[in-house]
Amino acid sequence: MPTADVVPDSSGTPASGVESQHDEWYKPSAGVIERAYIKDWEALARTADADFVGFWEERAKELIDWHEPWTTVLDDTDKPFFKWFVGAKTNIVYNAIDRHLKTHRRNKLALIWEGESGEQRSFSYHALNREVSKFASVLKALGVKKGDRVTIYMGRIPELPIAMLACAKIGAVHSVVYGGFSTEALHDRIEDSQSRIVVTCDGAFLNGKVVELKRIADEAIRRAPIVEHVVVVKRTGLEVPMEEGRDMWWHELMSLPIADWRCATEILDAEDPLYMLYTSGTTGKPKAIVHTHGGYQVGVATTLKYVFDLKDDDRWWCAADPGWVTGHSYIVYGPLILGATSFMYEGAPTYPYPDRWWAMVERYGINVLYTAPTAIRGLMRFGEAWPNRRDLSSLRLLGSVGEPINPEAWRWYFKNIGKERCPIMDTWWQTETGMLMITPLPCVNLKPGSGTRPFFGQQADIYDEQGHPVKDGEEGFLVLKRPWPAMLRTIYGDPDRYVEQYWSKFPGVYLTGDSAKRDKDGYYWIIGRVDDVIKVSGYRLGTAEVESALVSHPAVAEAAVIGLPHELKGQAIHAFVLLRHDYTASPELAEELRQHVGSEMGPIAKPEDVKFVDQLPKTRSGKIMRRVLKARAQGLPEGDISTLEE
Ligand code: PRX
Repeated sequence: MPTADVVPDSSGTPASGVESQHDEWYKPSAGVIERAYIKDWEALARTADADFVGFWEERAKELIDWHEPWTTVLDDTDKPFFKWFVGAKTNIVYNAIDRHLKTHRRNKLALIWEGESGEQRSFSYHALNREVSKFASVLKALGVKKGDRVTIYMGRIPELPIAMLACAKIGAVHSVVYGGFSTEALHDRIEDSQSRIVVTCDGAFLNGKVVELKRIADEAIRRAPIVEHVVVVKRTGLEVPMEEGRDMWWHELMSLPIADWRCATEILDAEDPLYMLYTSGTTGKPKAIVHTHGGYQVGVATTLKYVFDLKDDDRWWCAADPGWVTGHSYIVYGPLILGATSFMYEGAPTYPYPDRWWAMVERYGINVLYTAPTAIRGLMRFGEAWPNRRDLSSLRLLGSVGEPINPEAWRWYFKNIGKERCPIMDTWWQTETGMLMITPLPCVNLKPGSGTRPFFGQQADIYDEQGHPVKDGEEGFLVLKRPWPAMLRTIYGDPDRYVEQYWSKFPGVYLTGDSAKRDKDGYYWIIGRVDDVIKVSGYRLGTAEVESALVSHPAVAEAAVIGLPHELKGQAIHAFVLLRHDYTASPELAEELRQHVGSEMGPIAKPEDVKFVDQLPKTRSGKIMRRVLKARAQGLPEGDISTLEE
């Protein structure tokens, strides 16, 4: 029998007015605390709270090498356009790769990759450096300069992080578009970023099938004349058309003399942009969040070390897609900066059997696993016999991210994967925050479903509509009250929207877009988004984008989509459609519309169902009241409908 290192504790006194769920405690044993990097949360929290700028300055010295030091740690003279480590010279790639080459880590594995069909590739820091440097030289030869944007649209293969790092090395700004997105979504992102170069692959393997990425990219690029060159990785062997003069094979470029392994890492200003990443917000098209080299590296390295307790000889597996922020911060940059070994898997968790993930934990001796509630729920369906067949004893810590984890999934994960030995780090954060923001540490007591408390130096609060803090146990708007180094700097090309969306509802504090509660112990409980964002299997989608995909079908006059609870996906998309007069509603048309959204946006955006309606509830000014649709669909009270159109 494994020893229970984290034990349920029933000594917490029930609080009146707060749900009983808030009193289910799990306490780490003395052994867990002994192993942890941070053993006393309270002591460090007090120091960091008293001087959060000092706390981050210390971390910048502890974990990062700089070419030139900063003159100012935090410049808040132009709020909310905060700047961190002003005057410092750096490059995240120097910290993620270059500096390790001079140490024992040179021959250590930086990246281990397994393909869906079982093939393996691995890269030492030395080997990763060669690939990154060569591709950086290729990008230069294609005319990419500092500040240029490069769109990366690929499956989960090693060339994806290599392309990202190559951009960063020469000061270009990568814009990774999730490989599950489709034509219209990709097109919008290429256009908005004005990328002249797109890096893609012929196809991607997923669930035993091939996703035709190059075909989708061709379609998107046809509508985006800005693109001059497309670099294509041969992954599946799928026959793809290559346009003369525009398209080039990755492997051919990498075997030319232009792919010089001697490529200097550009020394940049701390505030120079590192990447942009599109995400959905309140209204309109997705917007690109901009992150920088200096503060971001401090934020991701600190959180990975302090929260996931990453040790030099650890094998770390963040099972997210590199195309989302979790992958950027915790598959690529964070683990490499710490000199750890990052594991990456190409395919579906259940391919060919539901123990695929557990087989890989066993095969590679994974020590820390970081995934999403939707994946846990999906694997839970198949029962515990699958993980029980495998040796999971290498695991030391577990993580969860992306949406609230329901206590049943938490307990299943804790018992069957962590064998009651591994604390679960339920980490709340966002594309915008760049790094974990509300999170436990291995040494703190856990409550299933709560991300515990804000990370060191941060102060969160929960406000009512007027911006007053609510009482413990009451729901309200989650806000962050202090700047942090990995924070977004702006929205690409739209600084006004940055101010408007995040800093205007409650001046001086950052609006997260989430609703939450805080319990009597100061623990935070995230409830969900309060804006027009839907979280489908942890993927963040905007209602506006799905609606515009629907309206692009000739049968659709108007459309509204909402998210409703779904057992596996957390939330699922439900669409309400008003047809043009010469079309008739039918189950076939509903299916056609679902497929249409799938091919414009990507499979994750496909509505669960499409309902045909005669009218949509709107305000007198013509805004669709999704709130009312949602209440009606769930049989709940419609709330204040005084602004509803006659
Ligand atoms: O609603 C919160 C939810 O995911 C949103 C951010 O989504 P995205 O920018 O795609 O980043 C996801 C990965 C960092 C948040 O506004 N969310 C994220 N983590 C959690 C969560 N909700 C509850 N618990 C979490 N641990």
